[in-house]
Amino acid sequence: MTTVVDGHELAAGLRADVAERVDRLVAAGVRPGLGTVLMSDDDADRSYVERKREACEAVGVAGTHLTVDPAAPTGRLLDRVDALNDDPSVHGVFVQLPLPDHVDTLRVRSRVDPAKDVDGLHPTNRGLLAAGEPRVVPATPRAVRHVLSTAGVETRGARAVVVGRSAVVGRPTASLLVDADATVTVCHSRTADLAAETRRADVLVTSAGVPGLVDGSMLSPGVAVVDAGLSRVPADTERGYEVVGDVAFESAREVADVVTPVPGGVGPLTVAMLLDNVVRAASARAGVALD
Ligand SMILES: NC(=O)c1ccc[n+]([C@@H]2O[C@H](COP(=O)([O-])OP(=O)(O)OC[C@H]3O[C@@H](n4cnc5c(N)ncnc54)[C@H](OP(=O)(O)O)[C@@H]3O)[C@@H](O)[C@H]2O)c1
Repeated sequence: MTTVVDGHELAAGLRADVAERVDRLVAAGVRPGLGTVLMSDDDADRSYVERKREACEAVGVAGTHLTVDPAAPTGRLLDRVDALNDDPSVHGVFVQLPLPDHVDTLRVRSRVDPAKDVDGLHPTNRGLLAAGEPRVVPATPRAVRHVLSTAGVETRGARAVVVGRSAVVGRPTASLLVDADATVTVCHSRTADLAAETRRADVLVTSAGVPGLVDGSMLSPGVAVVDAGLSRVPADTERGYEVVGDVAFESAREVADVVTPVPGGVGPLTVAMLLDNVVRAASARAGVALD
């Protein structure tokens, strides 16, 4: 019997837990705050930031949401990041990616105060994670780990395959799986024979952003599949598109023991994990122990 992970249900549990810790922080005189910066006219990017804003409101996290004209120079974005770094009511700073081509993304990531880096993308935090001493873990890899642990997937000694090697998803997910005692292979667009790699997987995590990249014929029976890919494809819907993952869900479901749907899998959990990172940053800054 295949387990289809309900990301909304998992996210609701996590949000309730976050809301309870927010209440305890507020009682101790600290309202956790998230600052976001959007430098994009893209509808999808706007809606991702909007979802974060709504999610903050729902759990009592204060929000400061700034925008920068996508044509503005890098300095304008750095000024906004500095303002959030300096604002004591902001405990977490999140810059929506991707940034316009003319902006040096590494420079922006490096500018975020590492103690407020709830995205886990400051070079210091990335280095600590890669070294097996994580301080802040990016939200999507945390969501992937949460899915695997709540579904009871054994990672110790498992062969794990991660498709995608980005700083945001693929690499940190691979680091977490190494730390969870899996033997990890990382695939990317130059991987010679993707199907041969995915068929070896006991645990498969996809984050390529390529609809239908992996189907059931590329999986071995019993695999746990976590699909972090999100793509908008044109569709005859009210919005004119639908959101799909990297995995052909129905054919994967025939083979896998555990599978996440898209939408409704990793996505909702990612937002909840970001809020959790904000609460952790706020409690660390305020010196209020919550665990
Ligand atoms: N669920 C969530 O909350 C969440 C959060 C963040 C991102 N995402 C989604 O996750 C996906 C990846 O995001 P990202 O920021 O990591 O994207 P990215 O920076 O574009 O990275 C995509 C990765 O996939 C690899 N790839 C592309 N085509 C491939 C192919 N045909 N075969 C094997 N590997 C291939 C790329 O290889 P190269 O390195 O060789 O180019 C790259 O490493 C997107 O769909 C994004 O929307 C979801």
